[in-house]
Amino acid sequence: MEYIIFIILAYLLGSIPTGLIVGKLGYQKDIREHGSGNLGATNTFRVLGIKAGIIVTVVDILKGTLAATLPIIFQIDSVYPLAIGVFAVVGHMLPIFAKFKGGKAVATSAGVILGVNPLLFAIMIASFLIILYLSKYVSLASMVTGIITIIVTIIQRDLGLMIVTSLLTAFVIYRHKANIKRIINKTEPKIKWM
Ligand code: G3P
Repeated sequence: MEYIIFIILAYLLGSIPTGLIVGKLGYQKDIREHGSGNLGATNTFRVLGIKAGIIVTVVDILKGTLAATLPIIFQIDSVYPLAIGVFAVVGHMLPIFAKFKGGKAVATSAGVILGVNPLLFAIMIASFLIILYLSKYVSLASMVTGIITIIVTIIQRDLGLMIVTSLLTAFVIYRHKANIKRIINKTEPKIKWM
């Protein structure tokens, strides 16, 4: 029963469409109608600028962090925090509050990891920034960081974390299908400011 309550809470939390709220309230713009059309942090930076991008990045990360730490906050030891975090990512990708058209799982997945393993989160940020600097593709940096994260969990011999990071990375790669095609066709936009 506890699992069901936490799963619903995590899904609803993940479903909060931060990019849509910030865009509509602050800029009278629906970011789904601009840029890549994705309801995520990268497209917020692209369409609304740095301030809105930072807000959406932070809130999307914290959605995952809060969801994963709910069982810890309520001191329910029988519930595995990482499993709950996964449902925040599902909510972020398929939000009930935005016609099930959400983001690509990157920021909220990172937030889930932040909630349970801050060191791994720091490794992910470092990996993301290095790959972004080298490639200039946010999408590629997101996907490769997911793969590196799995490798780190294998080295750490943490089976639970390995299973969850594999699942989250599978979500990330699946949601980047269009980006992968664009990278291959050399039509994926590169960032210009790094
Ligand atoms: O966080 C999503 C990012 O990796 C790609 O976003 O808008 O360029 O498809 P976008």
